[in-house]
Amino acid sequence: MIAARIHVSLVLIAAFFLTGCGEHSMRNQPRYKDHGESAFFDDASAARRPVEGTVARGLLKEDEHLYTGKIEGKHAATYPFEITAQILARGRERFDIHCAVCHDATGYGLGMVVRRGFKQPPSLHEPRLRELPPGYFFDVITNGFGAMYSYAGQVKAHDRWAIAAYIQTLQLSQNTPVSMLAPEEVRELENPVAETHAQPQNAGH
Ligand code: HEC
Repeated sequence: MIAARIHVSLVLIAAFFLTGCGEHSMRNQPRYKDHGESAFFDDASAARRPVEGTVARGLLKEDEHLYTGKIEGKHAATYPFEITAQILARGRERFDIHCAVCHDATGYGLGMVVRRGFKQPPSLHEPRLRELPPGYFFDVITNGFGAMYSYAGQVKAHDRWAIAAYIQTLQLSQNTPVSMLAPEEVRELENPVAETHAQPQNAGH
């Protein structure tokens, strides 16, 4: 009985693989290479442009706030979606990857590329830049600014907002008045040494 069942299973498995092999011929069809030449189209290019007036699925960029950083033509003072701790963490990661090479990880503008001779950007902690709304940072990342080129090709819109939020976090980190802190944070500031000794949580457990 058991032997018969095993036998049936083996036949089924074999049938499965055989049909699989049969489909190979469908994979070997005539096709164009990316950006190859075509004898069929008038312009001899195999790569086709979208039909005029159409938008590919997923590429409709109707939302002015989300895609331009502006509301009615002015830099937005708000974010187009909620900024959570997770988004900030993503913004930090993206900033460290794309921006820190010039702006350095703290935003003062002394990244490695600058130390090797690229134009030094202004510090993100300058009073002028601290006053600017998040939509402005989104715009600079999207369109570039002076010697800095656009990052729209490498960084998707949602990540550009995450970076803008992280820039504002960096700015806060350097310019927070003590009056904005919670009482326990003030105590930590006043007593940093005692705090470090009181919390040996990195002791390797
Ligand atoms: C290759 C170096 C380089 C990289 C990488 C770079 N920047 Fe810049 N950035 C600059 C320079 C240089 C300027 C100043 C441009 C000028 O004044 O001509 C600048 C200016 C700025 C400004 C200030 C605009 C103003 O109003 O003065 C902001 C904000 C900014 N960058 C954000 C970013 C962000 C965010 C990223 C990452 C997505 C980034 N930059 C990546 C070099 C860089």
